[in-house]
Amino acid sequence: MRMNTTLVINPKGGAGKTTVAINLASHFAASNTATTLMDYDPQGSSLHWLRSRAPGAAKIHGANAAPPKPDRLRSFEMYVPPETRQLVIDTPAGASGLLLQEMLGRAHCVIIPVVPSSLDIHATANFIKDLLLKGRIRERNIRLAVVANRVRRSMPVYPPLERFLNALNMKLLARLIDSDVYVHAAETGVGIFEMDFPASVAERKQFMPIIDWVDDQQAPRDDRTAGTLYELGRTRSA
Ligand SMILES: Nc1ncnc2c1ncn2[C@@H]1O[C@H](COP(=O)(O)OP(=O)(O)OP(=O)(O)O)[C@@H](O)[C@H]1O
Ligand SMILES: [Mg+2]
Repeated sequence: MRMNTTLVINPKGGAGKTTVAINLASHFAASNTATTLMDYDPQGSSLHWLRSRAPGAAKIHGANAAPPKPDRLRSFEMYVPPETRQLVIDTPAGASGLLLQEMLGRAHCVIIPVVPSSLDIHATANFIKDLLLKGRIRERNIRLAVVANRVRRSMPVYPPLERFLNALNMKLLARLIDSDVYVHAAETGVGIFEMDFPASVAERKQFMPIIDWVDDQQAPRDDRTAGTLYELGRTRSA
């Protein structure tokens, strides 16, 4: 079996990249799938969450892909164990240029969380158009999905988002409601699938289409990251 790599990305800050990444990773880990969570964000939110997990929690390997500090060896910190089956990558807001290409170069699936508001949709729409034009998404056989995040209960469907996705022939993969359960999970080093079932039942149900979509990916064509050490823009075997 090969490794599947999922990139969670949106140039807009606060869209829910870290929230989706940590819950995806913890679901796979809790289902006994060898999982690595890689964080490209210098804020290190995903790795901070990883460090706050209880010692007995399902194991997730952490890989730090943020730009290196002078005393750190990036290639060492980015190591992905070869047994990894699901690699989930959290990304910083505003990623573009070479960094974006490097991250896309690893991805089999790309998840774009977006807050349903006109400002966020405008920024995200431009990003997706750019990805389709310059990201060589089709040539690289990368699959894209959009997730509405922080959906207000008073407005479960947001027509401008649906219209935009329809125009691109894309479908909305999931709607995650604005809920304290995500905030509480992030604060306590767990994922929603590791919480008490009754406390997170609605959130789990809404998140499941994301898990199923990532799980459903056809076998990736190649092992793009496992067992290798990475430097920006070049790869060498471990
Ligand atoms: N569905 C949700 N319901 C309630 N709070 C949420 C939800 N999704 C995310 N949040 C909260 O919103 C804030 C931003 O979310 P998150 O950190 O996942 O976004 P991000 O895209 O990773 O942000 P950044 O661009 O800064 O990395 C966090 O405090 C998070 O706990
Ligand atoms: Mg984040």
